[in-house]
Amino acid sequence: MLTHIKDRYMFRIERQIAKGGMGTIYEATQLGAKEFEKKVAIKTVLPALARNERFIEMFIAEGRLVADLVHENIVQIYQLGHCSKAGYYIVMEYVHGLSLHDFIHFHSATHERIPHELAVFITSRIARGLAYAHSRLDGEGTPLNIVHRDICPTNIMITTEGLPKLGDFGIAKAASSTVSANDRILMGKLFYMSPEQAQRIPVDHRSDVYSLGLVLFELLALTRARSKWSKDILDAARTGQVDWDALPDNVDPDLLTILRHMLTADPDLRYADTSQVAYELEYFIYREGYGPTVVTLENYLRQNFPFLYMRASVPRKTAIMESVGRTAPLTTSPME
Ligand SMILES: Nc1ncnc2c1ncn2[C@@H]1O[C@H](COP(=O)(O)OP(=O)(O)OP(=O)(O)O)[C@@H](O)[C@H]1O
Ligand SMILES: [Mg+2]
Repeated sequence: MLTHIKDRYMFRIERQIAKGGMGTIYEATQLGAKEFEKKVAIKTVLPALARNERFIEMFIAEGRLVADLVHENIVQIYQLGHCSKAGYYIVMEYVHGLSLHDFIHFHSATHERIPHELAVFITSRIARGLAYAHSRLDGEGTPLNIVHRDICPTNIMITTEGLPKLGDFGIAKAASSTVSANDRILMGKLFYMSPEQAQRIPVDHRSDVYSLGLVLFELLALTRARSKWSKDILDAARTGQVDWDALPDNVDPDLLTILRHMLTADPDLRYADTSQVAYELEYFIYREGYGPTVVTLENYLRQNFPFLYMRASVPRKTAIMESVGRTAPLTTSPME
């Protein structure tokens, strides 16, 4: 009987996508037998972090925990590898689409609001992915207590099919245990941290509820909930400050109630779990019997980001900046 397969993986690096806080992300092709090819994304770990034994230890431990997460709203991890040239690296599903960061940036630059129903749809899908991860059990039925810890617009992607996906599961724990409080990486993350996480007290899945609330806030307001306190961001994060005045006036009162509940500083008074958040958000958009779906979001992307659907690959940043520079307003409402 076959008991093991020992093989070597080979990846061809196609292009550098971005440089993140913890490493560089590449588009790559995994090469298999004969002409087999599969497009993947590869994230390498910054040499400075890779030298830190504690980081690597936690990075591998968390990688094992999240390896089995398979959900349509989560960027799937395929492999954790190591080689002398690249050091430690993660192979994951390649997401063709754009990050929520770019999506928000496009809207704030063009002064066009994101339709609230689409903002809620995206958030509700990510809440579903989180609810799945939060409820995972080990072989003995004990909760794995997976917490994402780094929910923010650069870690959420939308595919060209209109599917929102949460990435970088399991990476934040390793990073937050090794970077110091005044580190630049950590300071950037403070815009999306729950108060308990910023206070560095042990967190559970309710911390992800809060961070997701901050993302929903930003989708509605097109500005970060704590932008006002950029200079004092650590304090704003620890005390759970939210610039409620930055929200537009036309946010539905029911949606505002959900958002306030997600952004409650005391975790005991917040939503107890993400499936409840997902349920409430879904109820909000589908209560009339019909609401946005992946098709609505895809049509919206087709209309606003046509370059994503062109065959020739246009550098992403250039294309987004060109779209931002367009002068003609949208002719039809994507929500129709
Ligand atoms: N699996 C993927 N497929 C395609 N593009 C991706 C993928 N993962 C990330 N990206 C793109 O790369 C960008 C940078 O991601 P990366 O995770 O490296 O940095 P970051 O999220 O800004 O910071 P951090 O290192 O703290 O997570 C994302 O915003 C997204 O646009
Ligand atoms: Mg990331």
